[in-house]
Amino acid sequence: MSGNHNNHLDIDFIRSCFPAFAEPLAAKTAFFENAGGSYVAGPVLDKLTHFYRSNKVQPYGYCEIAKNAGKQMDAGRQTMADLLGVPSQTITLGPSTTQNFNTLAHACSRLISSDTEVIVTEQDHESNIGAWERLCQRNKATLRLWPVDAATGELHISDFENLLAKSTAIVCLTHSSNIVGTINPVEEVVRLCRQNGTRVIVDGVSCAPHQWPDIPALKPDAYCFSTYKTYATHLGVMYIAEDFAQYLDPQCHYFNQPFAQKRFDAAGPDHAAIAALDGLGEYFSNSYAHHLGDANTSLFLKTQKVSALMKAHESDLCAQLLDTITRLPLRVIGNTHHNGREANIAMVSEKHSSRAMSEMLASKDICAGHGHFYAMRLLKKAGIKDTDDGVLRVSFSHYNSSEDVERLAQALNDLHQ
Ligand SMILES: Cc1ncc(COP(=O)(O)O)c(C=O)c1O
Repeated sequence: MSGNHNNHLDIDFIRSCFPAFAEPLAAKTAFFENAGGSYVAGPVLDKLTHFYRSNKVQPYGYCEIAKNAGKQMDAGRQTMADLLGVPSQTITLGPSTTQNFNTLAHACSRLISSDTEVIVTEQDHESNIGAWERLCQRNKATLRLWPVDAATGELHISDFENLLAKSTAIVCLTHSSNIVGTINPVEEVVRLCRQNGTRVIVDGVSCAPHQWPDIPALKPDAYCFSTYKTYATHLGVMYIAEDFAQYLDPQCHYFNQPFAQKRFDAAGPDHAAIAALDGLGEYFSNSYAHHLGDANTSLFLKTQKVSALMKAHESDLCAQLLDTITRLPLRVIGNTHHNGREANIAMVSEKHSSRAMSEMLASKDICAGHGHFYAMRLLKKAGIKDTDDGVLRVSFSHYNSSEDVERLAQALNDLHQ
């Protein structure tokens, strides 16, 4: 591939990499439910179907077919490590991030006792609150809540500084919330925690689809995200830094404990889904070659560069939508400017229920869900009384086009005339 060497995402090329757009339903839908799960990149689908078709057997045996299955799984795991720029043994592949947080909380049990505290945020998805709340209840430790600003739903670092104490063992926060979209100051939290001997666990589920994680730069103790939102198969990736993992209790069968990548694997995830992750590397590599040329650089650096192009594209789309909706009788939860936020916008209307808006958009083949999206505590604090109706959430992916946004903006505009 020659590379078109420019700084803009080639949306036609990107859409051609997603087989969904060749299907009639996806072709006619303006899809803004990406935070619930994205379309799957072609190379991922190819690897998935290849695994199921060619060698869906117990992997790692002596037969050629079993050897092949094992090789493909090893390739998927190694590709994920390379995409993240971390050693493969620091990654656990589980069925979902909810499961991974539960497993991690159990693994942290011996760090948490009646004289320690855990801080969670009021902004997080329940999966990164409930697991820690249950751990604190079991171990009679104190759970502290980093509150959000009721008006904006945002977190202020000064509130965190007031909460952080010598007794704080663990801090759990989201990189960006699935409702508010603001990118939280993870680097600053990590810096403050390092000085205090506190561990930092980051939920990257909402952020990763918009901004591929840079774990070597962030330096968290643990970072989790879900690949079914990053254009791949349904898995949860859990990175645990080696110097943290050594203090944790294994959550696997006792005879698997010597194998680092199995220590926190409590579930035994789908083999084919793991093998298919190799296709995600191919997708990022192909996108790099198309946009930036065939440089001989690491997959991690290629992915960071491609991700920057994707983010810039989404940021433009986000600005395009905000420009319209900030003039309508809609309350946007969080930052009304595209800078510093993900292209994931939640809103409530003065005129319509969130459900009615979601249904009216659906009648125009525009897909955007409504509800609390498991960020129940945040919605309550933000004053949204009917949490089942919740917010209308419009979440973008890099394959969304300006035409998609135009249709959405027009439809929301029509609804408020
Ligand atoms: C911000 C956030 N964290 C965690 C989760 C849980 O991820 P999973 O569905 O993989 O359990 C979600 C799911 O939507 C999410 O949006």
